[in-house]
Amino acid sequence: MGGDPGKARRVTMGAIMVTNVLITGGAGYIGSVLAPALLREGYAVHVLDNFRFDQTSLTDCCLDPNFRVTRGDCREKHTLALALHNADVIIPLAAIVGAPACDRDPTAAVSTNLDAIKLLLSLRSNAQRVILPNTNSGYGIGAKEAFCTEESPLRPLSLYGRTKVDAEQAVLDAGNAVTFRLATVFGLSPRMRLDLLVNDFVYRAVMDRAVVVFEGHAKRNFIHVRDVARAFTHAMANFESMQGKPYNVGLSDANLSKLELCDAICEQLPGFTALEAPIGEDPDKRDYIVSNARIEATGFRPQVSLADGIRELIKGFTILRNSRFGNV
Ligand SMILES: NC(=O)c1ccc[n+]([C@@H]2O[C@H](COP(=O)([O-])OP(=O)(O)OC[C@H]3O[C@@H](n4cnc5c(N)ncnc54)[C@H](O)[C@@H]3O)[C@@H](O)[C@H]2O)c1
Repeated sequence: MGGDPGKARRVTMGAIMVTNVLITGGAGYIGSVLAPALLREGYAVHVLDNFRFDQTSLTDCCLDPNFRVTRGDCREKHTLALALHNADVIIPLAAIVGAPACDRDPTAAVSTNLDAIKLLLSLRSNAQRVILPNTNSGYGIGAKEAFCTEESPLRPLSLYGRTKVDAEQAVLDAGNAVTFRLATVFGLSPRMRLDLLVNDFVYRAVMDRAVVVFEGHAKRNFIHVRDVARAFTHAMANFESMQGKPYNVGLSDANLSKLELCDAICEQLPGFTALEAPIGEDPDKRDYIVSNARIEATGFRPQVSLADGIRELIKGFTILRNSRFGNV
């Protein structure tokens, strides 16, 4: 193993030791932003991913001698053991992500989101650090006007939420770990996701100038994908003092209802209309405001505002158009 995982590089007797980071699921929406960010900071990155979306998102990393990639399944013991061999820090991102995808294939959801994490914990050495992202959807319906902190109870309703919360508990119980409870992520990634709330609404605003909103007053919170990548590098640099706890990660000025999010989009696309309808239901019944005070006390500050992310997405959707079956 390559030395103090808190530092990207250190010099030992004239030789440069590089910290090795294994990212399972590193070719996904978050990983495709995180992997190049880590390479830029001097970490060596090994991605293990089964490329289930046929994504091409990491091709820009391949020239970097500090980048390794394995096409494989993180649920396979032999594959995972080999990938773990040289890692100082492990970031398990591989998952079946979101309630609809988990409901479509519950067996894959449990085996990927929970069983593979337990397998990883059984195979890693005690010195190998783990930083796991959880969803904050488990906060469910928060008490009105009261901020959810990391001490608030997690009561996930969906299979997705339950597998993620159980995986977080297993990781914290095992020790030498940090977990993040991520707000809903937004922004452009080379492996784009349009199912995320801000990305979805801005896409509809650009394409259709309208969106149908259900549960419009339900409050959610948000964080840009580049700030998620920064949260991981922050935890790696401050691991000693941060370890052993979960951390909420979101924009403290973006605890917004869906209709307030529509207003924020409308400021940049004035022709956009939100239509409220009594149809549809959030599988996790999310309606909460979240405090990020714990991670902010460690010195972490997000850098990308919701408005900047919306501006980025509007530009991005000029490039990304789903016109495969169109004739104009
Ligand atoms: N994006 C968000 O808003 C958000 C919020 C909270 C938590 N998270 C967590 O962050 C992580 C990454 O999410 P994302 O948004 O990048 O999703 P994503 O679906 O884009 O990425 C998941 C990646 O895992 C890979 N994968 C799936 N099954 C695999 C397997 N068996 N073996 C190897 N690779 C496999 C996929 O190919 C994909 O590249 C997940 O654990 C998710 O639960 C995301």
